[in-house]
Amino acid sequence: MGKLVVCDHPLIQHKLTFIRDVQTNTKDFRELVDEVASLMAYEITREVPLETVKVQTPVAEMDGKVLAGRMLGLIPILRAGLGMLDGILKLIPAAKVGHVGLFRDPETLQPVEYYTKLPTDVTERELIVIDPMLATGGSAIAAIDVLKKRGCTQIKMMNLIAAPEGVKAVQEAHPDVDIYVAALDEKLDNHGYIVPGLGDAGDRLYGTK
Ligand code: PRP
Ligand code: URA
Repeated sequence: MGKLVVCDHPLIQHKLTFIRDVQTNTKDFRELVDEVASLMAYEITREVPLETVKVQTPVAEMDGKVLAGRMLGLIPILRAGLGMLDGILKLIPAAKVGHVGLFRDPETLQPVEYYTKLPTDVTERELIVIDPMLATGGSAIAAIDVLKKRGCTQIKMMNLIAAPEGVKAVQEAHPDVDIYVAALDEKLDNHGYIVPGLGDAGDRLYGTK
């Protein structure tokens, strides 16, 4: 079973409260999502391996540590996942980016795939699928299915807010995938919205409603 990691750092929790607030405007919402994504990138890369290199300081030579050249890939689920992309790229600028376009049919709540473009070497990379919301889990499961069909094997998931129903669904469908969230909320409502959640992430990021 993949692990669920709740990133409970005080800065993440503080900013998430303002992201949730219905009074927060589009500009501030976008900036806060970007900042929280950076902070979560710090958590999700905690176990990335290091290697030792010689470095000459102004005073002496020493053994320094650098990332061991592990290749990473970021997979935002369009469109709301794009809101977290730049914040993660600030910390991991060498990562390549693949896009998976999915939207949730408002009647059936089933994900509809409309676009996929992945780096050519995607199967060699450790991938982080990013999306602010993990609600029923349908979109996350479909995005991970797309990646696995292309031969990808090392996949993590990063969400701002998850519902217990979505976490369970992803863990059952993809038990090899660890999930990193800033908050695990209470439940889904009858329309598949996370309660208390933050509303519609795409609309709040892009001002479309
Ligand atoms: C939202 C969100 C997830 C999905 C989560 O996207 O960004 O992708 O819903 O719901 P699920 O876990 O029940 O699948 P939406 O379908 O609204 O598309 P958008 O990002 O284009 O607004
Ligand atoms: N998608 C969203 O944007 N918000 C929710 O609460 C559920 C799915």
